[in-house]
Amino acid sequence: MSLPAYGGTLVDRTTTGGRTAELRSEAAGLPTVQLGESTLSDLYLIAVGALSPLDGFMDQTTWRSVVSDLQLPSGLPWGVPIVLPCTADEAASVSDGVRAALIAPNGDLAGIIDVTGRFDRDVAAEAAGVYGTEDLEHPGVAAIHRTGPICLSGRIEYCYAADISGFPEANLTPAQTRAAFAERGWETIVAFQTRNPIHRAHEYLQKCALEMVDGLLIHPLVGETKSDDIPADVRMECYEVLLDKYFVKDRVMLSVLPAAMRYAGPREAIHHSIMRRNYGCTHFIVGRDHAGVGSYYGTYDAQKIFDEIDGAALGIVPLKFEHAFYCKLTGQMSSAKTSPSGPEDRVFLSGTKVREMLTRGERPPGEFTRPEVADVLMKAYRN
Ligand code: ADX
Repeated sequence: MSLPAYGGTLVDRTTTGGRTAELRSEAAGLPTVQLGESTLSDLYLIAVGALSPLDGFMDQTTWRSVVSDLQLPSGLPWGVPIVLPCTADEAASVSDGVRAALIAPNGDLAGIIDVTGRFDRDVAAEAAGVYGTEDLEHPGVAAIHRTGPICLSGRIEYCYAADISGFPEANLTPAQTRAAFAERGWETIVAFQTRNPIHRAHEYLQKCALEMVDGLLIHPLVGETKSDDIPADVRMECYEVLLDKYFVKDRVMLSVLPAAMRYAGPREAIHHSIMRRNYGCTHFIVGRDHAGVGSYYGTYDAQKIFDEIDGAALGIVPLKFEHAFYCKLTGQMSSAKTSPSGPEDRVFLSGTKVREMLTRGERPPGEFTRPEVADVLMKAYRN
C-alpha cells in the first residue's frame, strides 16, 4: 500500500484535449498575469500534485500561517509560501471573482486562475520568517524582492503545452513515480534531493539509506538555481554515467523535479520532503546544510527543524546524516559517527572548492568524485 498524498488526495489540475482547447479560447478574452520561471514551476507543481493538498496559489491567511507558524491553516506542516506575485498594473486589471490567464516567460499560455483574493506581500516578514534573514545578498531573499508586491490567490488549471523541465523523458509526475514504484514492488522508497553533481559523500548517504529501504529515487531539482550552480544538463550527464556503473539498476530510479531552488535551508528541507511524499516516497535524506547557501544556516539546522513539527502528520521520514567525508584512516567514506580519524585523515571538499578547481582545469580527486563524473565536469568546464 503506497503512502497517501499529503493531505489525503493527490491533486490533479492538469488538462488535456478538449479542456485544454477550451482554456486556450477562453484565455484570449481574459486579463493576464505574467509569470516568472519560478512561479511557472510552482504552477506546474501544483497542477501535477507535487504540492498537494494545494490546488492553487495561497491566500493571505495561508501565507501568514506558513510564514509565522510553519503550517497550513489546517495544521499540516508547511515550509515555504506558494504565491502568485503580480505587478500593481496586473492586479488592477483583475477583480476578485474573475478568471485570469497565466502567461509563461516565453509568452505562451500556462494556465488559468480563478482569482478569489489578493494581498500585499510583506516581503520583509517573509524573508525573516522563512529565510531567517532579511539580507539582500541571500539569493532567496533577493528573489522575493524582485517579484511584484501584490499576490493573487485562487485555484488553478494548467495547460502549458511544453515540458517545463528540459528533460521530458525524465520528468515523471507524482502519479507516474507512484506507478513506477508499484510496478517495481517497492513499498519503502528513499528520495534524494540535490542541486549538484552526485559526489562520493552524496553516494555514501544514498547507499546507507538504500540498505534500509526497497528503492532509491534520485530526484535532482532542475528548476531555477543561482547562476554559479552547475547547470542541470551537465548534472544529468553526471547522474547517468554514475548510475550506469556504480548503482544496482533495479534499486534506483532517476527522475527530475522541475522546482526552483529557494536556498531557504531548514524551511526548504520541509518543503522538499513534502514534495517527495507526494511523489510517493516514504523516506527523505537530509544531510549537512540541506538547501543552504553561504553561512546563513547551521550545519544541522535543516535536520533540527523536523523536531519542531508533527512528524506523524508529515508522514515522510527524514533520514538525517552527519557531514560525510572520505577517511584515509579507514579507507572509505565515513562521518564523525563512524570513523575515529583526526582532521588530517578527512578529505572534505565543498562544492565551491570543486568549482574553483574545475575553473582552473584541475581534476577533482577520486576521494571526492568518481572519475567518470570528473570527466563530465572537466569537459563541461573546458567548453
Ligand atoms: S541541496 O541544496 O540540494 O541540499 P546538495 O545537492 O549539495 O544541496 O545536497 C544534497 C543533499 O546531500 C542534502 O541533503 C545535503 O544536506 C546532503 N549533503 C551534501 N553534501 C554532504 C556531505 N558532505 N555530508 C552529508 N550530507 C551532505
